[in-house]
Amino acid sequence: MKVSIIGGAGMVGSCTAFALQTGKVVREITLIDANPEGAEGQALDLLHGATLMADQKISSGGYEHIPTSDLICITAGLRRKPDESRLDLINRNTDLFVGILNEIAKVGVKPDAVVVVVSNPVDILTYVAAQRLKLPKSQVIGLGTVLDTIRFRSLLADKLGAPPTQVSALILGEHGDSMVPVWSSATIGGLPLEKFPGWQPRLAEELFTRTKGSGAEVIKKKGGAGFAVGLAIQEVIEAVALDRRRVLPVSSVQNGCYGIRDVAISVPTTVGRKGVLATHEIELWPKEEQGLKRSAQVLKETQDKVLARIAGK
Ligand code: 2OP
Repeated sequence: MKVSIIGGAGMVGSCTAFALQTGKVVREITLIDANPEGAEGQALDLLHGATLMADQKISSGGYEHIPTSDLICITAGLRRKPDESRLDLINRNTDLFVGILNEIAKVGVKPDAVVVVVSNPVDILTYVAAQRLKLPKSQVIGLGTVLDTIRFRSLLADKLGAPPTQVSALILGEHGDSMVPVWSSATIGGLPLEKFPGWQPRLAEELFTRTKGSGAEVIKKKGGAGFAVGLAIQEVIEAVALDRRRVLPVSSVQNGCYGIRDVAISVPTTVGRKGVLATHEIELWPKEEQGLKRSAQVLKETQDKVLARIAGK
C-alpha cells in the first residue's frame, strides 16, 4: 500500500511517517508538504534508517503522488495556541484545508483510495472532505478520538500502575471540548475498572480532565503532539492496509448511529481496506449517550457555519 502524507514535513506528519516505517506494514511512504525541502529532509532522515526497518520505498514530492496513492493522510494545518480551542482554529485551517482538497481534486484519486483526515478541527474537516472529494463517504475517515482514547488509556494505566496494553476505555464524540468519556465499559485485563486495585471514583474526573486537556498540555510544553498522534494514525492506517477490521473510535459522517446524522463524529467503527465498514451502537450509560448527542449538536452548529463560509471556495 502506498501512503502519501500531506503535511509530511511537520511534527504530526513526520511522526506518522516514522510510525509507519517502524510498523513495517505499508510498502511506500511519500511525504508532501508546502515546505518541499522540509519534506525532503524528513524523507531522507527516514530513508537513512531503512536498512534496519523494512523493504519500503520512502520518498517526498508533490501532488503527482496522489493519483497513485492507496491512502492519503492529511495532517497539514496550523497549530492551536495553548489557550485556543480546536474549533477556534477552524477558520485559519479551513481555508488551508479546502486548498489541499482542491489540489487533490485537480490530480484525481484512485476510486478505492482511503483518505485519513487529521488536521484540526478534525471532525469538521472530515465532513468537508467527505462532501468535496469524489469518493464514497465511507472512504473518508477522521482520526477523531482515537488519540484521546489512547491518551485516556495510557494516563489511566500510569495512574494505577496497570499494564497500558491491557486497559480498555473509550473516548467518543468530538475530538475537542465536548468529547465523552465512556466509563461504563472500561476494563483492565478483563477486570471492571471499579474492581481494579487502587481505583477510586474520584480519579475519574481528574483523569478525564487531563485527557481532554492533553492536546493543550503538550502544545504548551513542547509545541504540539507528535509521537502519540503518529501512533494513533498508524493504528488507523494499518487497519486499512491489512483490512484488519479493528473497531476504532474514528470520525466519519454518521448516517443514524445513535440517531446521529449528517455530522462527522467518533463512534465505535469497524475499519478495513474499504475504510468505514460498519459503525456500532455499544451500550452506554444514559449520561454517556446524552453527552454523545450533545457533542454531535455542538459539531453540527459549527459545521453549518463553516459550510456557509466556504461555499463556493
Ligand atoms: C491533539 O490533541 C493534534 O489535536 C491533536 O494533540
